[in-house]
Amino acid sequence: MRGIILAGGRGTRLYPLTIAVSKQLLPVYDKPLIYYPLSILMLAGIRDVLIISTKEAIDQYYSLLGDGGSFGINISYAIQEAPRGLAEAFIIGEEFIGGDDVCLILGDNVFHGQNFSSTLAEATKHNVGATIFGYSVKNPKEFGVVEFDRDLNVLSIEEKPARPKSSYAVPGLYFYDNSVVEIAKSVKPSQRGELEITSINNEYLRRKKLKVIPIGRGTVWFDTGSPDGLMQAATYVEVMQNSQGLYIACLEEIAWRSGFISSKQLEEKGRSLAQTDYGQYLLNLAKTGK
Ligand code: TTP
Repeated sequence: MRGIILAGGRGTRLYPLTIAVSKQLLPVYDKPLIYYPLSILMLAGIRDVLIISTKEAIDQYYSLLGDGGSFGINISYAIQEAPRGLAEAFIIGEEFIGGDDVCLILGDNVFHGQNFSSTLAEATKHNVGATIFGYSVKNPKEFGVVEFDRDLNVLSIEEKPARPKSSYAVPGLYFYDNSVVEIAKSVKPSQRGELEITSINNEYLRRKKLKVIPIGRGTVWFDTGSPDGLMQAATYVEVMQNSQGLYIACLEEIAWRSGFISSKQLEEKGRSLAQTDYGQYLLNLAKTGK
């Protein structure tokens, strides 16, 4: 399974914050936003990651994350010339995906919760066709809404419906088998001129190969594309980390616990950031071994 983070876009809802800075480089409390979706791919056990962003921002993502070696993973980079839609990720990423299955996560999506790693592991291992997620929201009319049966087969997906058929929104995390590349190539731009991810999901639905995993009460999802979403995510991370003393989306910790990097590598990284709480956290993990 390969992973793609889509980290381009215009970010117009966050202007003026994102006039000169790519959205996924903005801070969510103590880390750049892109750490959070990357942590989700790593927790899913994915070690080959493609970051897609704009011509202007791609070098900055490379400065931040490099080839992924310090997290024990392989990161490659590709440019999306214009924000032509989420489904273009599979066309840009065709060579990277090769013959594999692929997980797409949007660069501005933050997930966190107990057992979410096992949910991800299940989605990675048992994906047949396509798997999306359903997240219960108070205001489904503002989202893509998924309706499903008892066996978790998707019955419909509707964009911002006036009369939602369920209260489950579809967050920006999707698992696909390899046919997604061919499907993406056949998708026609929508009225707003974008290659829509919903068109891909609807094709899997037509083939009766679209499953949904409902996300339970113990997990939160933030779409940080608006000032409120960004602030809520930052507040959540601040509260959780300072209450529990456990970090959210600490990439070196995930890498170390997953066996992607050694205790020595963890300690070296901690030393290079020793002036920060983040660095001290890494050093403490390396020292105590737990
Ligand atoms: P959106 O939030 O839908 O779009 P945006 O980031 O351009 O923001 P706005 O609506 O405020 O103008 O995008 C969701 C995520 O997908 C976000 O992380 C950016 C990314 N994206 C791309 O990388 N390429 C694209 O073509 C689109 C549409 C989004």
